[in-house]
Amino acid sequence: MGEINPLDLLQPAATRVRDPVSGRSVWLAQMVQRPRVEEGTLRFDLAFTSQHTKQDRSDIQAAVVANLRELGVTGDIQPFARLVMPKGGTGGPPKPKAPPVKGMEGGGMQPHGGAIHKKTIPGVKHIVAVASGKGGVGKSTIASNLAVGLTQFGHKVGMMDADVYGPSLPTMMNVHTRPVVNKEKRIQPVVAHGVKCISIGLVVDPEEAIIWRGPMIMGLLRQFIQDTDWGELDYLIVDLPPGTGDAQLSLIQAVPLAGAVIVTTPQDIALADAIRGISMFRKLDVPLLGLVENMAYYPLPDGTRDYVFGQDGGKRAAEKYATELLAEIPLQTAIRKAGDDGTPAVLGSDELAHNFSHIAKRITEKLPTAAE
Ligand SMILES: Nc1ncnc2c1ncn2[C@@H]1O[C@H](COP(=O)(O)OP(=O)(O)O)[C@@H](O)[C@H]1O
Ligand SMILES: [Mg+2]
Repeated sequence: MGEINPLDLLQPAATRVRDPVSGRSVWLAQMVQRPRVEEGTLRFDLAFTSQHTKQDRSDIQAAVVANLRELGVTGDIQPFARLVMPKGGTGGPPKPKAPPVKGMEGGGMQPHGGAIHKKTIPGVKHIVAVASGKGGVGKSTIASNLAVGLTQFGHKVGMMDADVYGPSLPTMMNVHTRPVVNKEKRIQPVVAHGVKCISIGLVVDPEEAIIWRGPMIMGLLRQFIQDTDWGELDYLIVDLPPGTGDAQLSLIQAVPLAGAVIVTTPQDIALADAIRGISMFRKLDVPLLGLVENMAYYPLPDGTRDYVFGQDGGKRAAEKYATELLAEIPLQTAIRKAGDDGTPAVLGSDELAHNFSHIAKRITEKLPTAAE
């Protein structure tokens, strides 16, 4: 293995530190500037605004440096704190301070074992996020079919429904048993169609979850991921909440993702949201496994296709962003019905099942599980 370039480690180091002013990671808030290596010393500027307290500044600086050390930078590190004008961003007023997250007191900076520090899950080979820029595009449909599809290739699969406000795993996988917590306080997933399932919908009344604040949700999701007895898994599929906001960001930052699948419908607006998703994962260094265009067309009885929402949007977006279009899934009553019945369409033997199965196959090819 070649020498690690310390400049390459700035992004992961700063991504793990939360900026209390913007509520985003220090990296996404673009506070790390002018990274350079001079005579073996890693130097960079940290751009603070007047909204950062003195404590904020020293906490952030210390956290970034500690993360760099942890990532293996051994040489000198010299950050330089600079005061800049608060960014107008979209022209709106500066964002209010994000509320402190439990376990992240002190502005959220915890370089070691902190809340946004990625912990691997022992026994789990690949964690794959299924994400969408907006809700209702079929994210959970794709996630459940992907999970079940992977079992059909002989893999051990888990699925976690992280969508607090619209948990659909219980319906789509037909699981309604409350998970048991054993003596060691480990949550036992409920097995459905060969997939170990956990959903916030199995534990919390969705109406109750609505009133929760972001940090509470994050805490619960993290606990779900870390405290569940997943056992040995080849793939853990995470059905993320829709959108590209802070909840998604912190979740993505909390979990060591092997990659992400983005679901979109063909409309321009959905595609624009999907593209936001693509750039979010890019910035966070999560590999993009591909795009699934759902409700791509309506199959007519004569075998032709009605492109209800426009044609080839997914294909164009995939080309433009150099990612793979994993599948074009039609708009079909059978899909909705399969979801409502809790028997994912991939379990069938028709063209549709084949379409879904192809997504799973490509994931196994992109993320192999055989012992190296
Ligand atoms: N291709 C499709 N054809 C028909 N119905 C679909 C299709 N994809 C999803 N649905 C239905 O649309 C609704 C929303 O899908 P869902 O997967 O829950 O979306 P999301 O998780 O993005 O909110 C569900 O009732 C689902 O069964
Ligand atoms: Mg959903």
